[in-house]
Amino acid sequence: MTCCSAPGKVYVLGEHAVVYGEPAVLCAVDRRARVTVDPRDDGRVRVDATDLSIDGFTVTWDGAEGGPPDVDVPTPLVEAATGYIDAAVSQAREAADAPDAGFDVTVESEIPVGAGLGSSAAVTVAAIDAATRSLGVELDARDVAERAYRAEHEVQEGQASRADTFTSAVGGAVRVEGTDRRELDAPDLPLVVGYDGGAGDTGELVSGVRDLRDRYGFAADAVTAIGDVVREGTELLTAADPDAGADGADGAFLDELGELMDFDHGLLSALGVSSRSLDAMVWAARDAGARGAKLTGAGGGGCIVALDPTAETRTALSFTPGCEDAFRAELATDGVRVEEAA
Ligand code: MEV
Repeated sequence: MTCCSAPGKVYVLGEHAVVYGEPAVLCAVDRRARVTVDPRDDGRVRVDATDLSIDGFTVTWDGAEGGPPDVDVPTPLVEAATGYIDAAVSQAREAADAPDAGFDVTVESEIPVGAGLGSSAAVTVAAIDAATRSLGVELDARDVAERAYRAEHEVQEGQASRADTFTSAVGGAVRVEGTDRRELDAPDLPLVVGYDGGAGDTGELVSGVRDLRDRYGFAADAVTAIGDVVREGTELLTAADPDAGADGADGAFLDELGELMDFDHGLLSALGVSSRSLDAMVWAARDAGARGAKLTGAGGGGCIVALDPTAETRTALSFTPGCEDAFRAELATDGVRVEEAA
């Protein structure tokens, strides 16, 4: 039995535009997905996903024939339990040159599905690491990230960037721009997450932005402007003292980063990927004194991320109608890691 875990993530800046080669800055956060694998002799894959942080369910699926089972739960849940695992297993089989390897796979996750916190990336990363290790091959975190990207790319039909999988695999703060992926030595940010209990359909949201970008020059300009916001944010983050603690070098650092997050949210809203509940949480955070707030991930529903070193934003969010959960998101310095190997 081999168990690996990988963290979720928030986008500090740059989702959606990253799909078109613009830069993005992300932080891995301390909510993790754990994937346990046990080899099977018959070459099949059995997935048991009892806790995906919505209403838990169990799926038993014995491989590719006939595709994923017809289950009456939201599609992203089934995809998380089947499509991503199936693609991850294919990557592990290829990495270990073991095309006939079969597994019992158990997925447990503290990361809500489809909510912008990188649940599918964390599950895919942890599954690839666990499955390759159980076949006697140890990939380094960057190789796991690359294989997880290929798996996500396949499941999301070519719509995925490398950002989520890289962040989950290496942990910490990262900057991604096309194929250039690097760890950032940035100060620990005081991030607060608000979750509306919902989920967005990443594929649909990415297609919607693509359509707007294809039809309107100003939508293409909005995508480029997000890249400009991220370039500004990267300069700010890399100039700050990485050991300065949650408030950065001084309050002005958080004010400036917050302003960039607010601007980014405005551009994402213009591109049609916010929602009433995400906007309500963003405004509740700002009214409570957050230095900045924005949606995180694909949007459409799910999570916002706000910047606030005080307890005010979390408290305000917990009283905001439509906000189901509000929590401080600590930076996860560990990316993918082995939890148990026997
Ligand atoms: C989804 O978490 C983030 C998007 O930018 C898509 C991607 O980067 O793959 C919307």
